Amino acid sequence: MKALIQAAHKAYECAYVPYSQFPVGAAILLEDGSILTGANVENASYGLSMCAERNCLFHAVSAGVEKPSIKAMAIATPQSHRVSPCGACRQVMRELMPLDTPIYLSSKESTETITNDALLPLGFDKDDL
Ligand code: THU
Repeated sequence: MKALIQAAHKAYECAYVPYSQFPVGAAILLEDGSILTGANVENASYGLSMCAERNCLFHAVSAGVEKPSIKAMAIATPQSHRVSPCGACRQVMRELMPLDTPIYLSSKESTETITNDALLPLGFDKDDL
């Protein structure tokens, strides 16, 4: 998990955050040991900005990654306090990763662990349609 968390910290170096100055990196570990990453990318039309977690997962789906092969996700910020994924990201994480996926929330100083399911209790999914 150390390599995954390090990858998330490296990923925020590529964040494009001229408006918030709040870089976030995300990384997922796949069953073959490979790691895919994403960073937040903002826009002058603020609502078009995209979080690191969704960029990471959309990158993975676009590259042909299948849900069961995702084994863990790390989300990192250089701040002293760990970041907590926004509601939109939680919904996308619920759809695209197994519910028991461990999520590592990592700051400059510490790392907390939670499961994907615990991030969005009673989440909406395709069985509700
Ligand atoms: N952001 C993320 O990328 N992930 C999170 O978990 C929280 C927020 C981004 C969105 C925006 O670019 C900046 O952080 C400030 O909200």
